[in-house]
Amino acid sequence: MNIEPEKINGAELYRGDCLKILEDVVRRHPHGAFDLIFADPPYFLSNGGITCKSGRMAKVDKGAWDKSRGAQENHEFNRAWLSLCQKALKPDGTIWVSGTAHVIHSVGFALQQLGFKILNDVTWVKRNPPPNLSCRYFTHASETLIWAAKSAKSRHVFNYADMKKDNGGKQMKSVWDILPPAAAEKKFGKHPTQKPLELLRRVIRASSKPGDAVLDPFMGSGTTGLAALELGRRFTGVELDKKYFALAKKRMAAESRGKNGENGKRGRDGLSVPSVLPSPSVSAAPVAA
Ligand SMILES: C[S@@+](CC[C@H](N)C(=O)[O-])C[C@H]1O[C@@H](n2cnc3c(N)ncnc32)[C@H](O)[C@@H]1O
Repeated sequence: MNIEPEKINGAELYRGDCLKILEDVVRRHPHGAFDLIFADPPYFLSNGGITCKSGRMAKVDKGAWDKSRGAQENHEFNRAWLSLCQKALKPDGTIWVSGTAHVIHSVGFALQQLGFKILNDVTWVKRNPPPNLSCRYFTHASETLIWAAKSAKSRHVFNYADMKKDNGGKQMKSVWDILPPAAAEKKFGKHPTQKPLELLRRVIRASSKPGDAVLDPFMGSGTTGLAALELGRRFTGVELDKKYFALAKKRMAAESRGKNGENGKRGRDGLSVPSVLPSPSVSAAPVAA
């Protein structure tokens, strides 16, 4: 198989199924290609439930990709992509995976089964969540991010001093209060589960170095890529859906022209985006070309 990425501002963007693309990456880079992976996978929560959207009752329907296939099949899918991500990580690399209760327990179990070393579970608190219309549960007001190293032997990167500085001189806790994406972050179009840039900035600043190779196997609207470019990291993204792939490309192209206007504040490193990153690929050749 020969899968060619599109290159935008030094980022390599693949449209396709991350299982296939990761298999190819791993075949070409048997010792690992990435320093950091951020994965925001399907949460499997679009199953006929209801939520509150702009003050009105609405069906939870993020798309066919988000429908549950049953606990066993969901877990097998999680194991499959996590196993490929583990192989695609360099020996000291780490992965972050976000999720709600629908998926995060399976992800945590799969990480343990595969021999990752779990470093932290971070709670991302939503300050202003939609109300629970059924009034039979607490209002869902958080997501979990699990941070794990490739193996028990990994010597993972943690930019402790930067995090402490960002937290006003106190150790950064594992509870993060970060606002949802601002309107400017949706100016090129909307993704139903778009993550805030500020969340990705923190993840990337905490656990990678400038110049590192970052992968997002479920890229969506490209938030991880945008934060990575902004902070001077290299980026590889994979997205199955044509329209979200197009949206990610638009966001990254605007970033490269300095016309994004999504950045309320630039990365706190003060790093600006190089017009062309030093090396467009994670090694001499494109990772899966
Ligand atoms: C939770 S969303 C990611 C949103 C993203 N973090 C953002 O900020 O926009 C998951 C994305 O994964 C994509 N997806 C689902 N299955 C996939 C697969 N097997 N390979 C690649 N992408 C997939 C979906 O189309 C969706 O856009």
